[in-house]
Amino acid sequence: MTMTGPQASLKTEGVEVIETPYRRIHTPIPVPESRELLERLRALEPRSMGGQPPVVWQGGDGVTVHDPYGNRWLDFSSGVLVTASGHGHPAIVNAIRDIAGQGLYHAYGFPTDIRRAVLEELTAWLPAPLGRVFLLTTGAEAVECCLKLARTLGNRRGGPDKNVIVSFHHAFHGRTMGAQLAGGIPGLKSWLGGTGADAFVQVPYPDGFREPDTGFGVFERALEAQGVAGERVCGVISETYQGCNAALIPPDYARALRAWCDRTGALLILDEVQAGFGRTGAPFGFSHLGIVPDLVACGKGISGGMPMSAVLGRDEPMDLYGPGEMTSTHSANPVCCAAALANLQTIRREGLIENAARLAPVLREGLERIQRAADGQIGRIDAIGLVGALQFTKPGTTEPCPAPARELVRRCVAQGLLLFAPVGVGGAAIKINPPLLIPEDALREGLEVMERAARDLPATDAQS
Ligand SMILES: Cc1ncc(COP(=O)(O)O)c(C=O)c1O
Repeated sequence: MTMTGPQASLKTEGVEVIETPYRRIHTPIPVPESRELLERLRALEPRSMGGQPPVVWQGGDGVTVHDPYGNRWLDFSSGVLVTASGHGHPAIVNAIRDIAGQGLYHAYGFPTDIRRAVLEELTAWLPAPLGRVFLLTTGAEAVECCLKLARTLGNRRGGPDKNVIVSFHHAFHGRTMGAQLAGGIPGLKSWLGGTGADAFVQVPYPDGFREPDTGFGVFERALEAQGVAGERVCGVISETYQGCNAALIPPDYARALRAWCDRTGALLILDEVQAGFGRTGAPFGFSHLGIVPDLVACGKGISGGMPMSAVLGRDEPMDLYGPGEMTSTHSANPVCCAAALANLQTIRREGLIENAARLAPVLREGLERIQRAADGQIGRIDAIGLVGALQFTKPGTTEPCPAPARELVRRCVAQGLLLFAPVGVGGAAIKINPPLLIPEDALREGLEVMERAARDLPATDAQS
């Protein structure tokens, strides 16, 4: 997720007391007593860690997060699309407690029964021919693994020149080197110079906004214009919806891309780090597209909060490496496995995917109302399942305009609605992604807070 804004302001605002079943604000935000903690963090960490609204998390319960000072927020962030089954879910808390209580919180690659259990759970979510799972720790790590498998298989199929990875403008795949090369955000890779960049090419993403033509011809023409023959491509990677907005790949485009990959012998890799496990109102983002990729990178919502990611794939790429050649110290960490198992079972047992699908129209209508309230400042809205995005633009253009986006987040946080800092192109997109178990009245309440806060937004930065 790209966060490009400044550090959050620590300037304390006046108090507007709020008391609802989901929100309680009775101090200025930031809380004056929290200043020392916030300043200590700033003194000890790189500046990059200071981007989020200054809300001190002490704990959570379902769709709310509270601080140590008696304030409570309705959570529209899920952290960063992680806490799919909410905060402090008893099934997850107990699973973590039980396994840690057995003294099992690390096992490297030695066999464990909890690893077997979570692998069986995960494979039950997968359509054929996806049947193998490699557990890792972060989303970027899963992406790196997919890129490595595509390059390795390309080499086997077509020699060293079958090494090009195609990805999409504005894509975000994480912050490790390969993931950033595959990303489509030039600013994020200026530090990389030319190293290896020739093996990564980008094409327009069919979002129907910054690229109005959503036909597959754009993909083929973009490769041709960059002098890349299909035989040189070993892999194509895309998010199923781009994290910087919430625009799903159009199904016709996805089917044409699948056929193109089959024709050229490239692996189709979908990055489901955000979309996976119910966020879009279906098990995976690709469940909406009528295709099955060769490899899937997952993370975030897989475990409900513990650091776990996964590569899901077909036998051929997944078996390219021999024993010990594709491992990581914290692969399949037992505490993460226990949390993931409890989280995935909770998503199924409590019908959270169905809840996301059922509430999707409520979210979309709410975003439309917010767009109207913002009076021309929101150029584009996207919503699918329980993920939505508001892209702030200079009126009548696709040019990002971050100042009103930041101000809307600041106002919402002061009103007890938790959002993370704006992301995406120019740091001008607000993402709305509550835990998947959110009840309808809570969703409506949060959307109303946003609608009120969207009125009379300044076009310039209120914090500077
Ligand atoms: C689509 C997508 N891919 C990959 C990543 C990277 O995941 P992580 O931060 O766990 O490395 C993210 C994180 O925001 C993401 O949104």
